[in-house]
Amino acid sequence: MTVSKQDVLNAFTFRAACRHYDGSRKISREDMDYILELGRLSPSSVGSEPWKFVVVQNKALRDAIKPIGWGVAGQLDDCSHLVVILAKKNARYDSEFMRNVLIRRGLSGEQLEAGLAKYKAFQVNDMKQAANEQTLFDWAAKQTYIALGNMMTGAALIGIDSCPIEGLEYDKVNQLFTDAGVFDPAEWGIATMCTFGYRAKDIAKKARKPVEEVVQWVE
Ligand SMILES: Cc1cc2nc3c(=O)[nH]c(=O)nc-3n(C[C@H](O)[C@H](O)[C@H](O)COP(=O)(O)O)c2cc1C
Repeated sequence: MTVSKQDVLNAFTFRAACRHYDGSRKISREDMDYILELGRLSPSSVGSEPWKFVVVQNKALRDAIKPIGWGVAGQLDDCSHLVVILAKKNARYDSEFMRNVLIRRGLSGEQLEAGLAKYKAFQVNDMKQAANEQTLFDWAAKQTYIALGNMMTGAALIGIDSCPIEGLEYDKVNQLFTDAGVFDPAEWGIATMCTFGYRAKDIAKKARKPVEEVVQWVE
């Protein structure tokens, strides 16, 4: 693995929240598959992969997001691709979903039950995320942001712009996608979105806090 640090730093410097896309430029299918693969390969707590990546290219659906997606409305006409990231609901230690995490790893019988008992202790005692549907959803949503970050960085590495999106009226956007038959709201909810494409003009770089303020070494 020999990627230069400078190349990676250049990509991080290039990446900036893109609010104005060049509508005439489309990302190739090959590049989009690469970006989505970075999401799929991302790490997640206990390997749960509690996500789905929905690529929305349908104009009517994109238009319907505009009045209920204040953070993305201005990007929907011109971004090349819109990826809606879903997080799994109710991924509790005793769910079929979590059982399948262990089955995918080849566990069965007593080993599988022991694994689920560990998940129970982890979710109930350590992370305190099994308390209710919201805490469980938030746990899954946290994992999806790792995929989000990886997709944006990987896109930047090949010169593709992006903008993460949380500026949504979540209840209404979830309802819109449910009505459109995109997902079952008992199983999935929207965690975040990300637009991808090519910038129409230079983006003024946002300042960052100084390193002394955000990095603390304990030696
Ligand atoms: C989780 C998340 C949600 C965001 N939601 C929106 C959004 O809805 N609309 C938008 O234009 N920018 C959104 N942003 C972009 C941020 O405003 C931006 O990343 C931040 O100001 C830093 O600027 P930079 O990305 O250019 O470095 C979001 C960023 C993150 C990480």
